[in-house]
Amino acid sequence: MKTVPMAPALFGMLILVTVCEAFVAPRPPLAGLAPSSFTSGVGITPTCAPAGVVTSMVAAPNSISAGTTETRTEAAAYNPLDGPNAPLRSNNNGEVWRPQKVRPRRNRKSEAMRSMVRENIVRPANFIYPLFIHDKDFEVEIQSMPGCLRHSLPHMLEEVEEAWKFGVRTFVLFPQVPDHLKTNYGEECYNPEGIVPRAVSMIKEKFPDSIVCTDVALDPYSDQGHDGVVKDGQILNDETIMQLTKQVVCQARAGADVVAPSDMMDGRIGAIRDALDAEGFTNVSIMAYTAKYASAFYGPFRDALDSHPGFGDKKTYQQDPANGREALLEAALDAEEGADMLMVKPGMPYLDVIRRLKESSNLPIAAYHVSGEYAMMKAAVERGWLDEREAVLEAMTCFKRAGADVILTYYAKDAARWLCEDGFP
Ligand code: PBG
Repeated sequence: MKTVPMAPALFGMLILVTVCEAFVAPRPPLAGLAPSSFTSGVGITPTCAPAGVVTSMVAAPNSISAGTTETRTEAAAYNPLDGPNAPLRSNNNGEVWRPQKVRPRRNRKSEAMRSMVRENIVRPANFIYPLFIHDKDFEVEIQSMPGCLRHSLPHMLEEVEEAWKFGVRTFVLFPQVPDHLKTNYGEECYNPEGIVPRAVSMIKEKFPDSIVCTDVALDPYSDQGHDGVVKDGQILNDETIMQLTKQVVCQARAGADVVAPSDMMDGRIGAIRDALDAEGFTNVSIMAYTAKYASAFYGPFRDALDSHPGFGDKKTYQQDPANGREALLEAALDAEEGADMLMVKPGMPYLDVIRRLKESSNLPIAAYHVSGEYAMMKAAVERGWLDEREAVLEAMTCFKRAGADVILTYYAKDAARWLCEDGFP
């Protein structure tokens, strides 16, 4: 029963195919040489169809035992230079020629040519280098982020100096705070003697032309392991914002150039702008984590700071990875509330979101190549599966191509060094 209605459809398709073929078949050969001259052209057959290739091209599965010579007699080798539908022709020099005026490869023919038409170039000045810090007099290697350390403050300064050598001038600080200083309201976040204000003033003192960014969120200071004040298992929005305004004023007083609110609470950008302005910090910039997703790619970062959520997850404040349009809503709000720069995080799995923000806003766009992305690359590099330098510089360029003006990456120092070596052509 079911096959009956199919029959007319199949029959119709058959007619359609036949008609199409009939329409195409009488098409005259491409202007110039007659079809017969394709095969008679001197030198053509040996150049484009060496015997070995022809043999392997026509070898049918059932001819394996028959041998090569027999195969040839069974089915004539296809000659792409022969017949009215031949895809290839012969030029005036008897060389094989695909009549093709537009050849994009001409713009790729040499490094000088490629460099001349290159659309996107990453520079060390585009990088923001995230630094993990702690109040100890030693460094700790972060297991899941090979090559990254939790720095003592003196060692942090050495790292800043190193990065400066390669043109990286912007840094963002992430502190590890001892458990005994953590509370639900995260009061330590606005302690003027806390690790972040001290680190900021140390960098600004020694390298005054640096741009020092601070992370604005409660999670390093929260005994709940969340980015907000917790009550009855809920993350309170406005109470959290109250703490953030105290935190940014403290950071600005220490000399922060840019504050970067990363917790995705509603209305935080406007409140932070008002707090800064009221205290006379109209020059302190806000880099908003505009589209920060509830992502599995933050795992290694949370290892680095021992900041895994105390309960549940962060899905009531960070965005659903399934949503792209929602980022536009966040972007519009952040811009309206006074953000100077919009960030998308994570980076590589969210290049489409970077592109959408770039197209919908005139503010600079930042992309955060997060800890999990870094860890994946390192893991593959350690196994010899990726060329680190090539893969990292490609990834950075792809951020730019997608629309990022600024890139936060743990690779900042290394990538800048490689770019300096290459002269970022
Ligand atoms: C927390 C914060 C996180 C990151 C930056 N700031 C982790 C989180 O939201 O739990 C992640 C950065 C990374 O993974 O590299 N305010």
